[in-house]
Amino acid sequence: MILTQILEDSKANRAFVIEQLVAGSCVVLPTETVYGLAANAYNNRSIATIYNLKGRPHFNPLIVHASSWKSVAEMIIVTPEIEALAHAFWPGPMTIVANKKNKDDFALASAGLDTIAVRIPQHPLFQEILHNIAFPLAAPSANPSNYLSATNAHDVALGFSQPTLMKTDQETLYILNGGACAYGLESTIIDTTHPAGLCILREGPITAAALMQKGFSLIAPRQTEGIKAPGQLSRHYAPQFPLFIQRAYPREDQAWLAFGAQTHNHSNVTLNLSESGSLEEAASNLFTYLHQLNIAYLNPQRQFASVAVQSIPEEGIGMAILDRLSRASTPEFPLGKDSL
Ligand code: TXA
Ligand code: MG
Repeated sequence: MILTQILEDSKANRAFVIEQLVAGSCVVLPTETVYGLAANAYNNRSIATIYNLKGRPHFNPLIVHASSWKSVAEMIIVTPEIEALAHAFWPGPMTIVANKKNKDDFALASAGLDTIAVRIPQHPLFQEILHNIAFPLAAPSANPSNYLSATNAHDVALGFSQPTLMKTDQETLYILNGGACAYGLESTIIDTTHPAGLCILREGPITAAALMQKGFSLIAPRQTEGIKAPGQLSRHYAPQFPLFIQRAYPREDQAWLAFGAQTHNHSNVTLNLSESGSLEEAASNLFTYLHQLNIAYLNPQRQFASVAVQSIPEEGIGMAILDRLSRASTPEFPLGKDSL
């Protein structure tokens, strides 16, 4: 367990956070997708602290966040396709996996792979911090491994208040409060290393349709290659409550996570991801509501035995919402071999 402290956004606190990063500490920063647990991507000791704080297996690589295209171009072997992707979607909620320029760089952050995941984030606070330091920031989502991602400072603090995490040298984890994350889902991860085309490794705010509309050709992930993004395991975002998705209505003993027009009013506990049926609004509320339901479930006087989620349309960012929900959900069939 580590002490957490939320820092309200101010000039002094931004300067303090920069000092912490320069000294090699990890800090939590807001991004437009989810909060990130950030540290100097070149400092192996800081990166080791990230892995320990999250309880993350060392084979699961991190995303490196850069301030500019110039900085990205120093890290990876640039292709015309990568340049076009960058032009179309950066800064923003897109991560690309590309071949490293120098295979020895980012040994720990990239878990020893020859490829590296990079992104130029859009959030003004994250951008400002990056522009005031001389190194890129490795930043996984700011949550213990295999737990819900956090889209506000309070949920980050709550996630790290669990006593099960590994011991680290760092005593306090500072969280810079940037309010709620605009997208609320992690970035889309695109593998650019296949000659045949781009491959989406993780669905996210940049949809397949948006990529195709800009003229990019996509290939389906190939099962035989094994798991390229370990976050893609079939059960990854485990909340403590049983979760059932794509439902028409809840059972009597279920909390109801609705979407769009209410089809059912009888549940004791009801939250609506978006009353107007906006998938973007639903995405931005998803993790916050799952955190709220988790707290309610852990209360000894809880009013429900499990959670049912109303059907989410399989279109646009709905695909990414369903991806997260299905990996947070309770399997109704025997788990496949990839479910650890
Ligand atoms: O929106 C986001 O992407 C957030 C914010 C903080 O930027 N970050 C985030 O990081 O979601 P994380 O560590 O929770 O998820 C990164 C995913 C993991 O599933 C990891 O396996 C995959 O990216 N990944 C990282 N490097 C990779 C690589 N070289 N090849 C394939 N997958 C990689
Ligand atoms: Mg994550």
